Amino acid sequence: MILVTGATGNVGGDVVGELVEAGHDVRALTRNPERAKLPPGVEVVRGDLSAPETLPAALAGVEAVFLYAVPGSAPAFVRAALDAGVRRVVMLSSLAVRDDVEVQSNPIGAFHAEIEDAVAASGLEWTFLRPGAFATNVYQWAGQVKAGDVVRLAFPDAATAPIHEADIAAVGVRALTADGHAGAKYPMTGPESLTHRDQVRIVGEAIGRPLRLEELPPDLAREQMLTRVPAPVVDSLFALMRASVGQEAYVIDTVEKVLGRPARTFAQWAADHADDLR
Ligand SMILES: NC(=O)c1ccc[n+]([C@@H]2O[C@H](COP(=O)([O-])OP(=O)(O)OC[C@H]3O[C@@H](n4cnc5c(N)ncnc54)[C@H](OP(=O)(O)O)[C@@H]3O)[C@@H](O)[C@H]2O)c1
Repeated sequence: MILVTGATGNVGGDVVGELVEAGHDVRALTRNPERAKLPPGVEVVRGDLSAPETLPAALAGVEAVFLYAVPGSAPAFVRAALDAGVRRVVMLSSLAVRDDVEVQSNPIGAFHAEIEDAVAASGLEWTFLRPGAFATNVYQWAGQVKAGDVVRLAFPDAATAPIHEADIAAVGVRALTADGHAGAKYPMTGPESLTHRDQVRIVGEAIGRPLRLEELPPDLAREQMLTRVPAPVVDSLFALMRASVGQEAYVIDTVEKVLGRPARTFAQWAADHADDLR
């Protein structure tokens, strides 16, 4: 049995789909089973990584776990996983984690590193997926695309190498189900550096309607994001964006190395999700 946490999310959802398709026994953890839309054949369990009392039932009989990163959840998760006899954990971490520093200065790196460290110290077999910016970050401005032809965002010339969630999931499934990935830390990106401006254009091409980008003053964009995201995370995201203006984003071919085929392009992502964006 493989337990997938974050199973209703972008990446975990694809992990579930791929595992089911390959014939594995899958249990999906969610805080809201009533709302969860999961494929037939998946055992759905109510659970919360922040509520340790829900973990023993979720982990009973489980050999491998796809672990979504919930801040502060690692000590209780590790104890429950060891008690349940879990062998392998594949964690959805972040490219923000730095191996070359004693103390993670970036808050996003810090909370993922704290979970990585607890899992690594546990004696469980582990693999850490460390993706950079997700292509799904486009959903932050998808409402504007649905409402009109203008996308207002800050730092139009900031660059990322957006990664398709299905590629993160595919590497995760490989690490969950095949040997040879124990102890691996996989930095992962999409195949090409693209500015926000490029991404808006490519989404427009995918939905068959040209989109116009208007620059939003960073202070205003920050205020808007603060309604959804904690301030230290917003500030570190903005610092990253500011620093990436006019730079090529870091690109690494881990997806291709692990899967033996190239990572999906952002254009492919936009085509795959065009119906969600129209
Ligand atoms: N966005 C990026 O650019 C980026 C880059 C690098 C790394 N990451 C990592 O990827 C994560 C986002 O992944 P995603 O896009 O697949 O997620 P998502 O679509 O935002 O979905 C969040 C998932 O987390 C689950 N969840 C949240 N709190 C939980 C809790 N306390 N206990 C159990 N499950 C909980 C939710 O399940 P229910 O609501 O069903 O309970 C849901 O399935 C980030 O949080 C970060 O760790 C993101």
